[in-house]
Amino acid sequence: MIYIVGIGPGSRDYVTEKAFDTVETSDFVLGSKRSLEIFEINGERVELTVNLKNELYEFLKNYKNSDSKKKVSILSTGDPCFSGLLKTIFSFDFIEQDDFEVVPGISSIQMAAAKAKISWEDYTILTLHGKEENLKKLLDFVKNDEKVIFLPNNLKNDLNYLVENRISTEKEITVLENLSYDNERIITDKISNLLGNNYSYLLVCIIN
Ligand SMILES: C[S@@+](CC[C@H](N)C(=O)[O-])C[C@H]1O[C@@H](n2cnc3c(N)ncnc32)[C@H](O)[C@@H]1O
Repeated sequence: MIYIVGIGPGSRDYVTEKAFDTVETSDFVLGSKRSLEIFEINGERVELTVNLKNELYEFLKNYKNSDSKKKVSILSTGDPCFSGLLKTIFSFDFIEQDDFEVVPGISSIQMAAAKAKISWEDYTILTLHGKEENLKKLLDFVKNDEKVIFLPNNLKNDLNYLVENRISTEKEITVLENLSYDNERIITDKISNLLGNNYSYLLVCIIN
């Protein structure tokens, strides 16, 4: 069986018992370096690179062709069902519904809502990751003064797009960076000031 395992925002503190149990009893564990480091892995460790989609495709195709009974865990940051590996794996032509199970994890969206102390049912949730078309949606939400939580694609480019489309540089945004890690940083500031900072790629943004 294949398990797509949500590992939460990054710190071990937010990994579920179910995730630990599934991963630590797997014959193969596939994931990014930062995901693999969380677990004590007893099976074979397969580190995925930026070429992850092709690597997963090859691994899973071989696995299915070999009619394997081995247990495989694929580590997905946050929750696999939000902008995660569920969609990637479903995009493979040979994968069927019964081939895998999903172990949910705490999404970076949930973690951000907890840190900012907001109820996320009041917000529209959007990911800009590889989704150019969502940038226009974000712009429309901001113009309509709607509350939004979004995962930026490239924060500075995304903010510049808003400004180029007549959103005031005085508009305030909360940026939550490296959630659950020691270098976690949470800033609420005007777009003009946010544009002056450098950021890692682990970012969630909230617009109230
Ligand atoms: C491909 S998406 C995966 C989202 C994930 N499935 C989830 O539920 O959080 C990766 C993006 O999630 C966000 N993210 C993941 N972990 C994060 C963290 N610890 N702190 C802030 N943002 C994080 C960042 O925007 C990152 O670029």
